[in-house]
Amino acid sequence: MKKLCLLGLTIGLASHSVLADTKPAAIENKDAFVSNLMKQMTLDEKIGQLRLISIGPEMPRELIRQEIAAGKIGGTFNSITRPENRPMQDAAMRSRLKIPMFFAYDVIHGHRTIFPIPLALASSWDMDAIGLSGRIAAKEAAADSLDITFAPMVDISRDARWGRTSEGFGEDTYLVSRIAQVMVKAYQGTGLIGAENIMASVKHFALYGAVEGGRDYNIVDMSPAKMYQDYLPPYRAAIDAGAGGVMVALNSINGVPATANTWLMKDLLRKEWGFKGLAVSDHGAIFELINHGVAHDGREAAKLAIKAGIAMSMNDKLYATELPSLLKSGEIQQSDIDSAVREVLGAKYDMGLFKDPYLRIGKAEDDPADTYAESRLHRAEARDVARRSMVLLKNHNETLPLKKTAKIVLVGPLAKAPIDMMGSWAAAGRPAQSVTLFDGMTRALGDQASLTYARGANITSDKKVVDYLNFLNFDAPEVVDDPRSAQVMIDEAVKAAQQADVIVAAVGESRGMSHESSSRTDLNIPSNQRDLIKALKATGKPLVLVLMNGRPLTILEENEQADAILETWFSGTEGGNAIADVLFGDYNPSGKLPISFPRSVGQIPTYYNHLTIGRPFTPGKPGNYTSQYFDDTTGPLYPFGYGLSYTRFSLADMALSSTTLNKTGKIDARVTVKNTGKRDGETVVQLYLQDVTGSMIRPIKELKNFQKVMLTAGEQKVIHFNIEENDLKFYNNQLKYAAEPGTFNVQIGLDSADVTQQSFELL
Ligand code: NOJ
Repeated sequence: MKKLCLLGLTIGLASHSVLADTKPAAIENKDAFVSNLMKQMTLDEKIGQLRLISIGPEMPRELIRQEIAAGKIGGTFNSITRPENRPMQDAAMRSRLKIPMFFAYDVIHGHRTIFPIPLALASSWDMDAIGLSGRIAAKEAAADSLDITFAPMVDISRDARWGRTSEGFGEDTYLVSRIAQVMVKAYQGTGLIGAENIMASVKHFALYGAVEGGRDYNIVDMSPAKMYQDYLPPYRAAIDAGAGGVMVALNSINGVPATANTWLMKDLLRKEWGFKGLAVSDHGAIFELINHGVAHDGREAAKLAIKAGIAMSMNDKLYATELPSLLKSGEIQQSDIDSAVREVLGAKYDMGLFKDPYLRIGKAEDDPADTYAESRLHRAEARDVARRSMVLLKNHNETLPLKKTAKIVLVGPLAKAPIDMMGSWAAAGRPAQSVTLFDGMTRALGDQASLTYARGANITSDKKVVDYLNFLNFDAPEVVDDPRSAQVMIDEAVKAAQQADVIVAAVGESRGMSHESSSRTDLNIPSNQRDLIKALKATGKPLVLVLMNGRPLTILEENEQADAILETWFSGTEGGNAIADVLFGDYNPSGKLPISFPRSVGQIPTYYNHLTIGRPFTPGKPGNYTSQYFDDTTGPLYPFGYGLSYTRFSLADMALSSTTLNKTGKIDARVTVKNTGKRDGETVVQLYLQDVTGSMIRPIKELKNFQKVMLTAGEQKVIHFNIEENDLKFYNNQLKYAAEPGTFNVQIGLDSADVTQQSFELL
């Protein structure tokens, strides 16, 4: 479990309440019910509802219950079992107005069963698989009494130095928006009033993924057009899909912290987008307005936040301490507090908590005897989703799939790494329940097993990094070093490799390296692991790299050294089995990158859909006076949308149904995709559009649709994409969302770089 910062528990609020019953008759009408309840609430009770506290193991439970019973807490996060949360709900039921608590948690990629990290889920381009992971997470979380998740995280990330790249769905607006909708629907199910559904709080509103230099918590400075065009749509998609909550970002936007940003929270979110749900601050963010330098003290910070429309304050006590006197002095109005309270009560209403405060807590006699029971996990689903999330980056000479009869040596610090397998933000996942690569391969091989193992290297030999990563965790060190010297470990691995037919090396990052507050200046595999790879290469044996990492890494050299590379990200509870399925060909990989792999950190930001420029570099032509870096090849190592299979696919006969489109018309873009290899497999056919000339410069291409298709060996299918005016719209300089007549290029490919093109005119 991650370290939590607790900013104080006790608050002294005067209680001058009027006792009255809520009228049961009003419960069918949300607005009437909430208004009626609010009429009966004292100021202290109202402010209490705005307080969201983190429950740490060290916190005095009795004191918390007293505060709840006194109406001073609206909800908690980080308390995640029914026996933990029931007494708190009991306390709420002892409070004067019996307003139920809600219980929240960061259920990001699974709850008890850990699914692949979000970046991996996005690599599947498989909306059913992604939805399944969210649905199971919701069911498991609800069964543990949770009402809300702080997810999905839909921050577009184009700078892999940012550690939270792992937690998002990649660089592309369209793909992330599609996934945002799927995840919200998966968490919330058919309706929020369901014992198996939880409320989604989309985050981090807004633009957190664009922190300058990829450095966490840094500023965001961005043109309105870029914001509207590229970064805001995924939040909007989540909200349009019905997300009940929004978590506000820690960063500033063009000089104003999101937490104090009236334009963002009121004009955009509520007025323009019509959001009616609950806005929650991020951890301690109201207090941090002082650090941002927009508030000189806590009083001003609380004022700015409530005025901006931050309804709930996560783990700081400023609303409790400051709002009463701000109201008294007339610096804020009763309506500021009331609209915040209305949001909190409205969310509780939507979650069915007024009808049944124990909806997700259930009865004590039904509590699971063992919270961690194997029977509570969804292993089969996790394994299937995980294998769909892996991307085959290289497969020279068909090194993969491996023969089960081969003599295999497995090396690398991530081969037996149950914690890392879960990835960061692993909710209530238990390392002891995750299948390591060693376990997975051993099981897959069964009796035929000829698998030897040598660690070969630690995660890093940089002690400072190890200390940093271990500071992130308070249960146990995350990164445990093998005390042997680097050379001794390499020698052992090389010796084992010399006896083997093929080497599988599990290398990359520990999970903490791709986490909140884990920005990096360098995206290489740590140097001691690279030394290992070099030594393994020198044996001349076929070398398969199994990458585990939470962001694109710079793997130029390893890409040369390895015969095959499988990007597995952090693949969750069933990771080891899923990777083994792919390595041995029991599953044919079908993932595609949701984010470009830069060749070097110096190329960042590297994203496929950049805006057109006056002096573009043309591959194959001299670079002088074109936009490029003269000291390296231009373009990414692996482009967005890229991924191989054990079979081969070809595209042919691309055609448009018309060369013109009028505003109410449609064009059918068609292509034939054929499996030309010897195995059945899936691929993703991707549709990109380019607006060639506009009133503003436009991206060189933009993903607008895709289809994941299964084809048996030799099979072919005709894929159709529908193109309408709506697909051609963009936010112009006046932020008007409209399509402009002119030429459009339609590109279809199996990745963003290798496409075939046709054009049409929008009339
Ligand atoms: C801080 C993180 O930024 C946010 O994503 C998370 O939901 C909260 N902490 C609560 O854990």
